[in-house]
Amino acid sequence: MHIALGVDHGGFSLKETLVDELQKLGHTILDCGSYAYDKQDDYPDPARAVGLALQRGEVERGILICGSGVGMSIAANKVRGVRAAVCHDTYSAAQGVEHDQMNVLCLGARVIGDELARALVRAFVGAQFSTAPRFQNRLNKVIAIERAQTT
Ligand code: RB5
Repeated sequence: MHIALGVDHGGFSLKETLVDELQKLGHTILDCGSYAYDKQDDYPDPARAVGLALQRGEVERGILICGSGVGMSIAANKVRGVRAAVCHDTYSAAQGVEHDQMNVLCLGARVIGDELARALVRAFVGAQFSTAPRFQNRLNKVIAIERAQTT
């Protein structure tokens, strides 16, 4: 799978670990920055870059890391077609894909450690959206909310 990865200074410490994990699993990475630790960077920039890469179909999934995961999820969800959530347990990281077609996993590097981050990424990339009609119906309703926005 081709996966976009974005971090800010709060998430930078986890970047190398997750690049390693994704590469070990055989995935390729689109690096959406930040490319070096920069205390002045702002999470909306990598969140937007990952969201637009998804929207353009350049990647199948995205992973965003900030201090808490919250800012990244708020910003990424402003991009049409993005379904981002903070998941710090493996059940949600997989079920969010299976039931909700979550396409961006957000993590907080100040909240979790390296091994949990690796496990969360494995759960996220290993999950597929369910083919059960009830989940597609729910997704259609979510998409209808998005499409009803005029601006
Ligand atoms: C950065 O200091 C921090 O505010 C940011 O990484 C993130 O946690 C926001 O949600």
